[in-house]
Amino acid sequence: MLPQTNHLRSLHTVIRDRAARREDFLHVSSRIMRLLIEFGLNLLPFDPWEVQTPVGRTYSGLRLTNDVCAVSIARAGNSIEAELRAVCPTIRLGQMLIQRDKVTKLPRLYLSLLPPNIGDGHVLLLDPMLATGGTARAAIEVLLEAGVAEEKIIFISLIAVPEGLDAVLDNHRAVRIVTSAIDERLNENAYMLPGIGDFGDRFYGTD
Ligand code: URA
Repeated sequence: MLPQTNHLRSLHTVIRDRAARREDFLHVSSRIMRLLIEFGLNLLPFDPWEVQTPVGRTYSGLRLTNDVCAVSIARAGNSIEAELRAVCPTIRLGQMLIQRDKVTKLPRLYLSLLPPNIGDGHVLLLDPMLATGGTARAAIEVLLEAGVAEEKIIFISLIAVPEGLDAVLDNHRAVRIVTSAIDERLNENAYMLPGIGDFGDRFYGTD
């Protein structure tokens, strides 16, 4: 979880406000996404790497060990892509569309476009809402089938609830989840409490 600083809480205060202006919602949720991505990158492995500074000294630094790619879960996960590209402009980015089947009520995979050799490195899996965890689990299973090791999956979410965290971690203990807030619980309509409403609708202006 991101450190619960006053700064972060002030950002959440904006996006959770039902009266937030759309431009404020977009701007501030993007700022939190940037913090989440930077935090998630810090969980990746790094190797020692030295460079020469302009004043002729050696700086003993680090650089990422492996390639990293990202997969967004449409539609809400696409909202994180712009911030990800701002931080990692050349990142390879896949996409999944998973929706709940109206009859079985189970998550169903409609589309999976994954970068080639995705199993070679770490994967940032993007979905701002970790609610029931059903979609997250389905997406993780697609990645496992594609050869990604569980411990190489970093799930990036803006808000999670205990139900979603348990659903993922009870089944995939090695997956790491980065979030900026853990809310109390889901209500009877599977909305988070105190929550944010329908994130995708608010972000894309379809509410
Ligand atoms: N998805 C949302 O957009 N909001 C919630 O509260 C739960 C799932």
